[in-house]
Amino acid sequence: MIPMAKPIMGEEEKKAVNRVLESGLLAHGPEVNSFEEEFSRFCNVAHGAAVSSGTSAIHLALDALGIKPGDEVITTSFSFIASATPILFLGANPRFVDIDPLTYNMDHRQLSKAINEKTRAIIPVHLYGQCADMDEILDVAGDIPVLEDCAQAHGSIYKGRKAGSMGYCGMFSFYPTKNMTTGEGGMVVSNDESFIDRIKMLRNHGQVERYDHHLVGYNLRMTSIAAAIGREQLKKLPANTEARRKNASLYNTGLSSIKGIRPPQIYPGNEPVYHQYTIWVEKGRDDLARALGERGIGNKVFYPSTIPSSPAMKGFSTGSFPNAENASQHVLSLPVHPMLSPDNISEIIKAISEIMEGS
Ligand SMILES: Cc1ncc(COP(=O)(O)O)c(C=O)c1O
Repeated sequence: MIPMAKPIMGEEEKKAVNRVLESGLLAHGPEVNSFEEEFSRFCNVAHGAAVSSGTSAIHLALDALGIKPGDEVITTSFSFIASATPILFLGANPRFVDIDPLTYNMDHRQLSKAINEKTRAIIPVHLYGQCADMDEILDVAGDIPVLEDCAQAHGSIYKGRKAGSMGYCGMFSFYPTKNMTTGEGGMVVSNDESFIDRIKMLRNHGQVERYDHHLVGYNLRMTSIAAAIGREQLKKLPANTEARRKNASLYNTGLSSIKGIRPPQIYPGNEPVYHQYTIWVEKGRDDLARALGERGIGNKVFYPSTIPSSPAMKGFSTGSFPNAENASQHVLSLPVHPMLSPDNISEIIKAISEIMEGS
């Protein structure tokens, strides 16, 4: 079986976890501060607040921004649902924007139509590891804060700038299938220190000092064990990203001659990190997915439906999203993780070729 994703845990991570276990500081400790410094530096951003998940990163960023009932927050119609649910946690209304049919990212040409006097924030998602059209999005947004959902884009580059460094803040996930993991975890990075301080208070019961609560906060802290794993994973990220890029390039070459398959379309200035390698299958996507599975080749549809069409969003979404609907019927993600060998990729390309050509 060639799996879709494989978290890579080495001796370094094990030693780091042992270091924390021996220190006795299992909850918030110096490991978390170090991870915040190291990861925000990696993003070329001044400050970071580590939290319990990518979902909490989005939730706390919106809360720290003062999003409240009646406000509107714009996001993409095609992503994991957690790009939108935190908007609802705060009683605000999500507004969805259709996607660019080639990159599957928020279509900046549709964005201006979604903005109105109630819009308080915009959340583009850097889907599959390629940054959204940030220059155009920032331009249309004007004074409205742009919060980058970087859950799939650790280290992704857009016109020389790192994911998370272009908008008001970047929000990351360290879930096990992501390009780097802490088990569960997330982080908000921003150059606005007071905003990051507010997130640090909110994640920890609204405390300034112990038992001095200035905000109604939560417990959404990152553990020291998670932070210690994250520090080791961060060291390995550049090599792992290179491996993902090499795998993607092998796919690009191998799939180029197969009719009915469109490899990922990368816009100029983008250096994606291939969280997913996602092909467009013109006809018979589900049959291809099934046949690959039968040959022991992992594959997955991210995502089989749009966010606005989800029953959980009933009553909160208006509008139509034809490009997102279409994408949900045609996209298929193939294994691209760093543990794949060139032989694995050849095997997958050969299988796709045989299945598509009906042999
Ligand atoms: C685009 C996107 N946003 C948000 C999240 C939420 O992250 P987490 O699973 O760490 O809560 C994910 C992760 O699955 C994601 O892919």
